[in-house]
Amino acid sequence: MGKNKLAKFAEMETLENVFQPTHEEVFRTEYVLRGKWNETVFGNDHPIVLEVGCGKGEYTVGLARLYPEKNFIGLDIKGARMWTGAKAAQEQQLKNAAFLRTHAEVLESIFATDEISEIWITFPDPQMAKARKRLTGTRFLALYQKILKPDGIIHLKTDSPFLYRYTDEVIRVNHLPYFVNTDDLYHSGYNDKILNIRTFYEQQWLARGKTIKYLQFTLEHATEWIEPDIELEKDDYHSEARFMNKKVNP
Ligand SMILES: C[S@@+](CC[C@H](N)C(=O)[O-])C[C@H]1O[C@@H](n2cnc3c(N)ncnc32)[C@H](O)[C@@H]1O
Repeated sequence: MGKNKLAKFAEMETLENVFQPTHEEVFRTEYVLRGKWNETVFGNDHPIVLEVGCGKGEYTVGLARLYPEKNFIGLDIKGARMWTGAKAAQEQQLKNAAFLRTHAEVLESIFATDEISEIWITFPDPQMAKARKRLTGTRFLALYQKILKPDGIIHLKTDSPFLYRYTDEVIRVNHLPYFVNTDDLYHSGYNDKILNIRTFYEQQWLARGKTIKYLQFTLEHATEWIEPDIELEKDDYHSEARFMNKKVNP
């Protein structure tokens, strides 16, 4: 591990806007902040927006700046990436942004029923071989449903045709209401100040000429989750590992 990473990990321990629960604090047990994020962390009763797989946290920081009347939590398991967002939020004195280093698999231990108002998922790995690991797969949607208000919106931004088609199919077979569904966001007319926030991965894909896809939907009325049973054409690029191995702006 490089020195730089170690220094970031050490600093993460000191940042007031970073929460790093241990395995024991979240695995099959309720985290101490469950149901108390607003009361304990933000000191208000504003809606909480969660970014799952936030990486460097561009959305968490960008949205917190745009919407002081909402609270934002960026969640990721990778600490060195998260450090970038946590530092930016600290430097910009954003009291409505926090970062949570943990696995999305334990969301139910960390947030109470209806504690979250909105979820952003930005450029997740499409996990073409493993539906269970897809952050828009039915396993994760069922988890989100446990913490998301019934009318809470989920946003997916992706460059991956595979993940876009897969999520579109999840929405279709589960009859989920959707508000926006475009396979070319920046030529769709839905271009606005929120959608214009560009994450680290998004910038890489845009530079390679990839189109950005965007889905906005809710989990309202979903009762039994149906995993799509279709063959999808795999992307010809894009697993995170392959991307990083090519050393494109690592
Ligand atoms: C391809 S990166 C995208 C990062 C960022 N959203 C962006 O657009 O630049 C996907 C991120 O999701 C995180 N991630 C994937 N699965 C996760 C899980 N189950 N729990 C927490 N984080 C996860 C990874 O650690 C990684 O930082």
